[in-house]
Amino acid sequence: MDKHATGKFIVFEGGECVGKTSQIKLLAERLRVFGHDVVVTKEPGGGGEEPRRIRELLLSGTLSPKEEIELFIKNRRLHVANLIRPSLEKGCIILCDRFSDSTFAYQCYARNLGIESAQLLDADARQGVAPDLVIVLDMPVERALERLSQRKGEVSAFDREKREFHERVRAGFRAVAKAFSHNHVVLNADASQESVATAVWGVIVERFPGIV
Ligand code: TMP
Repeated sequence: MDKHATGKFIVFEGGECVGKTSQIKLLAERLRVFGHDVVVTKEPGGGGEEPRRIRELLLSGTLSPKEEIELFIKNRRLHVANLIRPSLEKGCIILCDRFSDSTFAYQCYARNLGIESAQLLDADARQGVAPDLVIVLDMPVERALERLSQRKGEVSAFDREKREFHERVRAGFRAVAKAFSHNHVVLNADASQESVATAVWGVIVERFPGIV
C-alpha cells in the first residue's frame, strides 16, 4: 500500500468453490468483534451500477480474451478509485474476494494471454495500491468441481470451463503465490470451514500482530 493509506488491504484468491466467500464472512465478523471497520468487496463487481453491469458482461462468456482482460482491468481501476483507496485512507480493513492474481491465473495462465502486458495493465489500474496480504485458498480441482456441481445459483461461463482450464488456474495461483511470497500465503482449503477459518485467523494474527 502507498504511504498515504492507513488501513489494510487483504485479498482472498483461489479457483471456483474453494470457500472464499464463507471465509471472508467469518473473518469480517471476527475483525468487527475487535472494533475494526471492515469493508467486504469483490471483483468483478465492487459496488454501484456500472460494476454490476461489467460483472454481468464478464460472466456471460460473450467476450474475446482480449476484451475480457480489458474489462477486468477497467473494473479494477474503478474499484480501486471508488472504493478501495478511499476505504484504506479512512483506516478500514478491506477484505476483497479476488483481485490482480485472478487476472494472472485466469487470463494469463488459463487463457494464455501474456503475463508481462497484463502486469503493466494491472499496475496502471491499481495506481500504487497493492494488497498487504493475499490468502490463496487451494484445493485439488477434482474436489472443487464436486462442490461446483452441488452449488445452487449463478453459474458463469468460467464455471462451465473444462477441468484442464481449472487445473491451469490452480497452477497459476500457486505460481504467483510462490513468486510473490512476501505478501502471499497458500492455505489448504480442502478441510472443514472451521479449520480453514482457524488457519486464516492464525495468518492474520501472525502478519498483523496489532490487529487483536
Ligand atoms: P466469482 O465472483 O463468482 O468468483 O466469479 C468471478 C469469475 O471471474 C471467476 O470465475 C474468476 C473470474 N475472474 C477472472 O477471470 N479474472 C479476474 O481478474 C477476476 C477478478 C475474476
